[in-house]
Amino acid sequence: MGQSTLLPLGCDADSNADTIANALLDTSVRDTTVLITGVGVHNKRPNICWEVARILAKHGVTVCITSRTAKKAKALARSLQLALDKEDSETPSENLRPRGRIIGISKALDLSSADSVYDFVDEWDRHGLECVDRLILGAGLGLVPGRQRTTDRIDANFAVNHLGHFLLTNLMLDALRASKAFRVVVLGSEMHRGIPGTDPIELDLEDINCEEYTDDWEAHPPCGQAAYMSYARSKLCNVLFARQFAKNLTNLRKWAPWKGTSSVVVVDPGLTVRTGLTRHVPVTPGSKAGERNRAILTRTYSRKNNPRARSVRQAAGDVILAAFAPTLQPSSVYEEMVKEGPLPRSGKNEDVQSGGTPFWYLRERDVSDPSEAALDDEAAQDLWEFSCDLVGLK
Ligand SMILES: NC(=O)c1ccc[n+]([C@@H]2O[C@H](COP(=O)([O-])OP(=O)(O)OC[C@H]3O[C@@H](n4cnc5c(N)ncnc54)[C@H](OP(=O)(O)O)[C@@H]3O)[C@@H](O)[C@H]2O)c1
Repeated sequence: MGQSTLLPLGCDADSNADTIANALLDTSVRDTTVLITGVGVHNKRPNICWEVARILAKHGVTVCITSRTAKKAKALARSLQLALDKEDSETPSENLRPRGRIIGISKALDLSSADSVYDFVDEWDRHGLECVDRLILGAGLGLVPGRQRTTDRIDANFAVNHLGHFLLTNLMLDALRASKAFRVVVLGSEMHRGIPGTDPIELDLEDINCEEYTDDWEAHPPCGQAAYMSYARSKLCNVLFARQFAKNLTNLRKWAPWKGTSSVVVVDPGLTVRTGLTRHVPVTPGSKAGERNRAILTRTYSRKNNPRARSVRQAAGDVILAAFAPTLQPSSVYEEMVKEGPLPRSGKNEDVQSGGTPFWYLRERDVSDPSEAALDDEAAQDLWEFSCDLVGLK
């Protein structure tokens, strides 16, 4: 991989999030507020968004933590405070900068339920919380065998990974608009392309529950075709949603205060070990299929066995880059990129040069192209309308 145009000096493809943040974030980030979904700890191990939250708070950003229950959001905020206190006591000389506030939002945000998202945003508005400069959409359900459905009978991956975030972003628009330069960052995945060796994935609104695929995980390890497809399709929806959202913002740009300052980014953090994403894969000890799954996970999600595998701290670095790299802002730096062209297709939003909102797809810490299916304008528009109907948005 060549040197990315996004990476700050002194950083490379393997730098961890602390190194990237030290090089990228200056004191101006102290005025920013980030709302983040998907902060979690599993088996006592912090996940990607927990690391993102820790580092941003360390650099003075106000970080608002959401979780499925208010109690959990508070507990996560406390765990972050404690981790930063520990760092301060261990390396006092390096921690002289003022820490940002860490707020565990006292209202549940269960992304599998539209009602919960509406209630959450009502509460946010009622409390007059700050404007949101960065909305980081990191919550996600991984490979879940057995056709998991929400209470509305919708595929759980589609609901949590796409629909809940779709609704949240739309409802937070006023809070975003209150920022002079907001950015929406979605944690996507290269899996939006599909399963290696099979046909590329396309949007299929006729079968969002993936009924056409088998959920027999013993025959199709580690989780069955249906689980794999539903995760992969939800990640395709992430890209289609982000592109359409950027396009919609561009169409509003004439009166928009964010003209020329805001952007929408999908970032693939790469295959990241030791998070909770594979926790639903059955690994029952003593069962042949369970043992086989364990072997698959050990082979894949291990930095020793898989050279592509990345640590949580590296993955968090990708997200911080996506959220704060100045190059992704349609500023003078961005205009230079446009002049130099040709831009990757993810940046080719025909209106951007006249003040529209760019959409970017990032992988391996650089701007890249998503799949052909993710660049399908008609599919993006169809998904938008379909999602509005499902959650009752006008
Ligand atoms: N790990 C990878 O290899 C990888 C690769 C590419 C992309 N990604 C993407 O990166 C993101 C973060 O993944 P991760 O690896 O850090 O996984 P993770 O540890 O499983 O984190 C996912 C988070 O989503 C939350 N969540 C799940 N269902 C929810 C719901 N209904 N409402 C609200 N929150 C919910 C979980 O909360 P609870 O703790 O309450 O369950 C958890 O905190 C995901 O979008 C994933 O698709 C990960």
